[in-house]
Amino acid sequence: MLGLARRTGSATVTRSLARRAALQCRYSSSQTPQQQKEEAARRTASFGFQNVPEEEKESLVKNVFNSVASSYDLMNDATSFGVHRLWKDNFVDSLKPGRKGPMKCIDVAGGTGDIALRILDYAREKYADRETTVDIADINAEMLKEGFKRFKKTMYHNTPQVAFHEANAQEMSKFADNTYDMYTIAFGIRNCTDIPAVLREAHRILKPGGVFACLEFSRVNNPLLSTMYDQYSFSMIPLLGTLLAGDRDSYQYLVESIRRFPPQPEFARMIKDAGLTTGEFVDGGAWSDYWGGIAAVHKGVKL
Ligand SMILES: C[S@@+](CC[C@H](N)C(=O)[O-])C[C@H]1O[C@@H](n2cnc3c(N)ncnc32)[C@H](O)[C@@H]1O
Repeated sequence: MLGLARRTGSATVTRSLARRAALQCRYSSSQTPQQQKEEAARRTASFGFQNVPEEEKESLVKNVFNSVASSYDLMNDATSFGVHRLWKDNFVDSLKPGRKGPMKCIDVAGGTGDIALRILDYAREKYADRETTVDIADINAEMLKEGFKRFKKTMYHNTPQVAFHEANAQEMSKFADNTYDMYTIAFGIRNCTDIPAVLREAHRILKPGGVFACLEFSRVNNPLLSTMYDQYSFSMIPLLGTLLAGDRDSYQYLVESIRRFPPQPEFARMIKDAGLTTGEFVDGGAWSDYWGGIAAVHKGVKL
């Protein structure tokens, strides 16, 4: 489906066996299967403001994006008054894809392809580059389908410049080590159960010298702006979800999940802990705030 590319190899197999063994080691071998089950159920992850068993979060998030996929682009415009477009433009501008020649990029949690399309347009329009490529990876086939439909109307359709992959950001074993010049993830990482695992995989698949860049909702530091933003997002976004998409719960989750995402310095620390080199832990260093921290761009380099 969607021409989803598959890459396998013995290194990949070895890695996934090692990962499985490491996972098994997390449980004491003296535990019975029943005890192991109980322990797994006790580990929780945030799902909006709720805590749910860790293993359930992924399917709950999948349900949210299954439900919003067909209205996702319209709702993004409606809930942000189009501001998400400016943020995404700035994000891609700041990365200057194509400036140093064609790049191999991956856009993870790429959804309907907003970032991928901007990367390809930027490289072509600024540097006449038609060789930069973007792999779009997302856990949700419905979101990818919307992206595929959209790319069908562009000059990139049926070219080697774009490919769609169903993949979990936490476990990217179908992508080889040291493959990409640039890894982007926009408004996706907060939906993942295990953020450190996402960052470790980003580090693994980047080439030495490759850039990790994340655009995500973040923490507003100004109390007045924070109050206004809370009032708007908790009342208007679920309401727009009901009116335009007939789905209040999914949009309630999306707002709540923003508040559970770690603030800028904490997320910067996680990026550094994954082995990526960042700037100082201040605005303008490891990250850049957009609109007072409503969103922020974090970057890191694999040295
Ligand atoms: C808010 S959308 C963002 C889509 C796109 N990046 C954008 O900026 O418009 C979040 C995306 O993250 C994807 N996602 C959630 N959990 C994921 C995971 N563990 N691995 C890969 N993608 C995931 C969802 O399916 C969804 O497409």
